[in-house]
Amino acid sequence: MSKKFRVFATCDIGESVDLLRQRGYEVEVYPQPEAPPKKLIVEKVKSGIDGLITTLRDPVDAEVFEAGKGTLKVVAQIAVGFDNIHRADANRYKVPFTHTADVLTEATAEFAFFMLGALARKLWTAEHLTRENKWGYWHPYLPFLGDEVTGKTIAIIGTGRIGLAMIKKCTGFDMNMLCFDPAYQNHDYIKAIQEMKDLRHARGICREKTWIKYTTLDDALTGADFVSVHVPLLREGETSTPTYHLFNEHTLRRMKPTAYLVNTSRGPVVDEAALAKALKENWIAGAALDVYEKEPLPADSPLRDPEIADRCRLLPHFASAARITRLSTDPNKGMAGRCAQGLIDVLEGNYGGDITKMPYVVNKEAFAK
Ligand code: GLV
Repeated sequence: MSKKFRVFATCDIGESVDLLRQRGYEVEVYPQPEAPPKKLIVEKVKSGIDGLITTLRDPVDAEVFEAGKGTLKVVAQIAVGFDNIHRADANRYKVPFTHTADVLTEATAEFAFFMLGALARKLWTAEHLTRENKWGYWHPYLPFLGDEVTGKTIAIIGTGRIGLAMIKKCTGFDMNMLCFDPAYQNHDYIKAIQEMKDLRHARGICREKTWIKYTTLDDALTGADFVSVHVPLLREGETSTPTYHLFNEHTLRRMKPTAYLVNTSRGPVVDEAALAKALKENWIAGAALDVYEKEPLPADSPLRDPEIADRCRLLPHFASAARITRLSTDPNKGMAGRCAQGLIDVLEGNYGGDITKMPYVVNKEAFAK
């Protein structure tokens, strides 16, 4: 390689940094686990770096692109979601940005499913009972019961990669599925799942016939025992189908009082004030969240109210946080590997230098001839 590329990473992506260095890259890694101040990112970009490695908490907008005018060639994000990157600004400055889709699909879906199970079967409350030595007897229904997942109906809100993987997990639990997506439907996949369900029934693997179908948001909300959210965060003005506060007072009230909400997508898809009220006033039975309107979750969040602690599970944006998923240097297995490869593709001009052909670049539209 003739040129030595300079890169600033706002977070450590593990061994993949060493691999970039072995390739001759000069890589500076922000040493703290917290997000660097925006001012520092702008400063580093202004110093003439070729590539910027970011993650979901780092704001990347016109100020950053302006600082990198003529020098910044790529922003490589370690995350599938990229709502922190201002796409229109990236396009205006003609800077490609990459993300790490696919490699975290199964990990995120399985975590959503585990959250759902932990919530419905009250694992947190049950373990507290044992640990606090309040488990005084075995009784048919005291001190409390949970709800089974098997055979119930789930609404899958968003049928992109992770929503479809969640459907696959739920198929194993013989759940009926109401699917809704404002922008993307995959009818072939849903048909294949129905065939699998029919086979399970025909071969005696499950006793009852189960079904899956696309429907409206309202039908999905009113008909489901569980609602799992898998849409990207899209704000008004960015799209004709915004998802900001898709879950609000109105939509939460459409859910059954016995239903549970699970969110592993992005926090602002759910209006947290409305959700806290819904839990407190028992409009719904419970919620499990991995993502929040503001992260980390503020100390004074209404979601921390001890009154709703038994029915509100709070996780620290953790769904993709599994060893191989996060850190494998293999771009087909790990977010770190895919992030580094996205950076390399652009900087080293892979795919004949045609950005529209680079698989991890998001904003290909800015480079179409
Ligand atoms: C995590 O939330 C991601 O977008 O990768």
